[in-house]
Amino acid sequence: MKAPVRVAVTGSAGQVGYSLLFLIASGEMLGKDQPVILQLLDITPSLDALKGVAMELEDCAFPLLKGITRSDKAEQAFQDADYALLVGAKPRGPGMERKDLLDANAAIFQAQGKALNAVASRNVRVIAVGNPANTNALIAQRNAPDLEPHCFTAMTRLDHNRALAQLANRTGCDTTQIHGLTVWGNHSSTLYPDVSHALIDGKAAHDLVDRAWLANEFIPAVQQRGATIIKARGQSSAGSAACSVIDHMRDWVLGTPADDWVSMSVLSDGSYGIAEGVFYSFPCRCSNGRYEIVQGLEIDEFSRERMTATEQELLDERDVVSHLLP
Ligand code: NAI
Repeated sequence: MKAPVRVAVTGSAGQVGYSLLFLIASGEMLGKDQPVILQLLDITPSLDALKGVAMELEDCAFPLLKGITRSDKAEQAFQDADYALLVGAKPRGPGMERKDLLDANAAIFQAQGKALNAVASRNVRVIAVGNPANTNALIAQRNAPDLEPHCFTAMTRLDHNRALAQLANRTGCDTTQIHGLTVWGNHSSTLYPDVSHALIDGKAAHDLVDRAWLANEFIPAVQQRGATIIKARGQSSAGSAACSVIDHMRDWVLGTPADDWVSMSVLSDGSYGIAEGVFYSFPCRCSNGRYEIVQGLEIDEFSRERMTATEQELLDERDVVSHLLP
């Protein structure tokens, strides 16, 4: 049996946390041969709820779960963490502007970046899920100067999975038959799901779906899916978000399939002309626990326009939080 690894999860008492922890403890994220110690973080008023979640986890008698810690202090929760899943964030309150939300959550990710820098494993793998996820990842990364930028990512895998499902429904295929789909940009309503390079059972997606459907239905449906689910369910999409966190981390750690890539928000290195220094969703391949941005894809005018719009939103968000970026 392998030695246990430490998985820190913030916002553990929340909706996404509640769906996520059981999947991690059952081995869905890191494999059925990898024991884990869960290090749960939430804010002080949620500590009672967190105790209940920990009791339920115990009650599952998961063979891979080798310990649970609970804390309201980031430095405790991140101690020696091999993985840090940054889910906890403040929800948007009544009358709150996007800028207010950015400010409130930025302070959380600044403090957590510093804590990761101080106490986490030097190879920690971090995913920012709490919104605005891309900009929160940037804040955490910039406040952790002793960790490699490659340690930090943000989640656009839910958007990627949503796009796969929409395309599979339209073409009557299975999601597993689709390869080479990309979500570019920010996890927000400006994101751009791109099928230009996608193959469905070996055939170009562009030959199987018409451009009007892509522009007028597919792209808006993926961009608005979160809002559509809130409207239907009365609550945000927690179960699908948790499954996407698992997909993101599993592929990052255990590798992407040889004939495909996934969408991950990572620090832009200027690939595809996207400004450096923002967390932007790119097509990524992973092996040996590292991601690489897929290079050399052709970008047409339609795509470029949408990629630039979502890039601009990220640059604007970065301006709002610039005082928190050392
Ligand atoms: P929730 O409100 O049910 O749970 C959030 C939890 O975070 C609460 O338990 C809260 O006490 C905790 N929290 C707040 N401040 C904290 C802090 N400083 N440290 C630790 N914990 C803290 O929300 P839910 O539904 O679980 O969503 C969590 C976040 O994930 C939200 O920001 C949501 O917008 C985001 N999200 C992102 C998705 C993505 O695709 N990137 C998809 C779905 C949700």
